Amino acid sequence: MTSSSSAGPRSGGAARHGDALALLTAEFDGGSGVWRSARAGGVCVADPEAARAVLGNRHGVVADTSDFYHHRDGVFGPRSAQVAIGRAARLLIQRHLREHHADLPRLVAELAPRSEWPDAGNLLVLRHLRDVLLHPAAPPHLHATVEAIVSRAVRAGARERHSAPSRLLFRRRALAALETETRARQRAPRPPDHPAGPRDLLDVVVGGGGPAADPRELVEVYLSFLFATAGSVGFALGWAVHLVATHPGRAAAPPAWIVRETLRLWPVAWLFARTPSRAQELGGVRVTPRDRLMVCSYLVHRHPGHWERPAEFVPERWAGTVPDAAYLPFGHGPHTCAGATVTVRLLEDLVGLLTRDWRVSVTPPVPPDGAWPQVGPALAPPRFTATLSRPDSCAGRR
Ligand code: HEM
Repeated sequence: MTSSSSAGPRSGGAARHGDALALLTAEFDGGSGVWRSARAGGVCVADPEAARAVLGNRHGVVADTSDFYHHRDGVFGPRSAQVAIGRAARLLIQRHLREHHADLPRLVAELAPRSEWPDAGNLLVLRHLRDVLLHPAAPPHLHATVEAIVSRAVRAGARERHSAPSRLLFRRRALAALETETRARQRAPRPPDHPAGPRDLLDVVVGGGGPAADPRELVEVYLSFLFATAGSVGFALGWAVHLVATHPGRAAAPPAWIVRETLRLWPVAWLFARTPSRAQELGGVRVTPRDRLMVCSYLVHRHPGHWERPAEFVPERWAGTVPDAAYLPFGHGPHTCAGATVTVRLLEDLVGLLTRDWRVSVTPPVPPDGAWPQVGPALAPPRFTATLSRPDSCAGRR
């Protein structure tokens, strides 16, 4: 079980990913934007136009796939099932957010007076979306399994906290528990036209896959949702908290601008792997199906030809015309994130509450050269402690 899913390619450990980010950043000269890197082991793409050509895949330039539906033996399919699952998942989360909107102030208040990040973000999202991940009447041991997966595999640096044998044992047990439940639901599925809809994301996946789907594949798709929600959304919230706290003068900006700018500076999904479908030229570089393409949204988002003051946190830039072509926090084209709208809505609501009702500070303070992330398949914020206090103007709302 690796921290995978929508937030990046599935290979490699944290150290390798950290090295890769540093390496790609060092190699990027802001000029060509597409280059072959022997040290990174592939062709790097930081040019916005080339990145969109690859991800959009309009001319069949790559073998068409996103990371989300990958499993250990290939890709879960057909594409129609992928699309149906993505859509049903979005609708389920959307409904939950609507019905549980009133819970958010309490969840945010629980971060006070002090909280440890980025774990606090993962746990907040897990708490808020718990019933969507697994409906309340699901077996208690399964709820415990989902909590343990978040603790042992989703959180930043989780892998380093356990030995390889312990991880392997845990992985086997967790997958077996989820597989048993998946098989049971395949035998007694909830009809797709059930008036109450799917109870949770496992129903969504089982319903989309159908009775003949391999339950092990379905479990991996379910895990992608777990990593995307508790993992990616939690990390994005962590970045927003960090940026707001370290730029107090900018906390009054509209939450929508703060969220967009957060996802620009620190795109949780920072690297997309693709394989060329044939020999061709990409941004002046000859590539073949033997190459690995690495589209780096982190560098696209900081491309000096497309962004003014690219390394600075400037939420106000979203008030005017912005180069949307150089903005890919949720990917681009047919595989654009199915959860983008629900993610942005939740983040905006949470950031809105944090900046309206609380004053947030963090320790350690941001180093002079900026925060360096914990890099894995996802870009997680560095470890920090957040202190929340009520500004005088909010004393009445307590
Ligand atoms: C901060 C949070 C998130 C980020 C940054 C993110 C990012 C992404 C990105 C970049 C992709 C495209 C991957 C590729 O092209 O290889 C993607 C795909 C996907 N995401 Fe997300 N995601 C997030 C949260 C979610 C959530 C909450 C859901 C739940 C519905 C979700 C569901 C999906 C699905 C189903 C796909 C596959 C789309 C397809 O191939 O048709 N994501 N995500």
